[in-house]
Amino acid sequence: TILVLDFGSQYSHLITRRLRELNVYCEMLPCTQKLAELEWTPKGVILSGGPYSVYSDDAPHVDPAIFELGVPMLGICYGLQEIAWHFGKNVLAGEKREYGHAYLKVDRHGDGEAGGHVDKLFAGLEDDMEVWMSHADKLSHLPDGFITVATTSNAPFAGMAHKTKKLYGIQFHPEVTHTPKGIVLLKNFAVDICQAKTDWTMGKFVDQEIARIRALVGEKGQVIGAVSGGVDSTVAAKLMQEAIGERFHAVLVDNGVLRLNEAKQVKETLTAGLGINLTVVDASERFLSRLKGITDDPEKKRKVIGNTFIEVFQETAKKIAREATSDRAGEIEWLLQGTLYPDVIESISFKGPSATIKTHHNVGGLPKDMNLKLIEPLRELFKDEVRELGTNLGIPEDLVWRHPFPGPGIAIRILGEVTPEQVRIAREADYIFIEEIKAAGLYRKVSQAFAALLPVKAVGVMGDNRVHAQVIALRAVETSDFMTADWYPFDGAFLKKVSRRIVNEVDGVCRVVYDITSKPPGTIEME
Ligand code: XMP
Repeated sequence: TILVLDFGSQYSHLITRRLRELNVYCEMLPCTQKLAELEWTPKGVILSGGPYSVYSDDAPHVDPAIFELGVPMLGICYGLQEIAWHFGKNVLAGEKREYGHAYLKVDRHGDGEAGGHVDKLFAGLEDDMEVWMSHADKLSHLPDGFITVATTSNAPFAGMAHKTKKLYGIQFHPEVTHTPKGIVLLKNFAVDICQAKTDWTMGKFVDQEIARIRALVGEKGQVIGAVSGGVDSTVAAKLMQEAIGERFHAVLVDNGVLRLNEAKQVKETLTAGLGINLTVVDASERFLSRLKGITDDPEKKRKVIGNTFIEVFQETAKKIAREATSDRAGEIEWLLQGTLYPDVIESISFKGPSATIKTHHNVGGLPKDMNLKLIEPLRELFKDEVRELGTNLGIPEDLVWRHPFPGPGIAIRILGEVTPEQVRIAREADYIFIEEIKAAGLYRKVSQAFAALLPVKAVGVMGDNRVHAQVIALRAVETSDFMTADWYPFDGAFLKKVSRRIVNEVDGVCRVVYDITSKPPGTIEME
């Protein structure tokens, strides 16, 4: 196992991710971790980057015992400075921040006096390589015993290594994709220098996570969590079910604005297919009655749906706890969240050695007075890893690859007032669109697609009659991060078919338009 000590850089988790890609197992712990409290001995240590200056009074430092361990160590950015500080207190504020691409020149030392291990970090790499820098401080000079192994035009000590010990520091970030060959360097360190095993797999992640959940929750503890039918909540739920079986209570709130047949399908898949202990609450009427009369305020729709969700979830949690406590000791004390790594907003504070290193966000908007402790088994994973994990856990393919669906559901795809009739129209049109996208083999190429219902009427002729009916707008986008997106270039024949089917099959619609707005300036959703 490689120990990653986190100084709070926005890239820290990428280090663990890259090591996982190399099938190397690692654990990331706060930089203040005491070595004596660690129950295992790492094969190597990586010190991450971080937003602090090592020389400032409130700067975090590692337990000095780490340096006595005698295992290889790699300091990245702040990590390099931490090593330099430990050995020589020789870090200064730089005159200018260095941020962005830089060209690194590797200094090789051959087999001479300081050869051998110092060259290993850059083995197999070109002498010139593109790297990503993000730092303000720099070394004034090398600490005793170290030599330079890489430079850039702006950083004379972009890479250093100890002459006899396997201690390395690099100023750039090998873990980000902007350092294209960074993975080779991490492999050189973890696999060649530390001799870490390369037998870590997603299957092992499952075993470890299940063991961790069991230890956390205990013999009797109970966990509740909302599921939506999306990949994240389903994967998290399946993991809980594997770990604690019936003591995990999944709740699906039918808010009346899910997709066509969705509540029923999710129930079938989760209950019959995956064996998850699921309670479906049909609260459609409550939601729809509260949405009545909101004609021109998308944020109000979101708020009403969010608040009603909390209310229903709380009622359900109380009911489940009441029923469950009759035969199982203890109230429900845990809340499952399918938080992924990109959702985790990092905020760090060091106020002494025991300070929390990370606090975050997103308790799904649930009120604190529910007094639930959070359990987030996916918080270190990225979306593609969650999909791999889902496949591993036997979750059906179509669910693993399901497009994202917003919490407020099709309510924010029905522009104007949400009424049961508008919901029917939007649902039916959406169903046809998605069905055709799947039939054309395009579902995975498109990142997200849906039919929206516009709050206007247009004239058409159907048969011999003039009609005055509504307009459906189709939206389909390609994106990798949902921050920017482009509309998907369907061919004309495909759009023609979808349009014909929607107009013919969905009562109340006489026109179909295709939204050709990118994001920005548009958003993916229409409200
Ligand atoms: P926008 O419309 O902001 O959407 O370009 C970006 C991504 O976020 C989803 N989205 C939401 N998800 N609650 C959610 O759970 C919301 O209120 C919400 N609004 C947008 C959207 O579907 C897209 O994937």
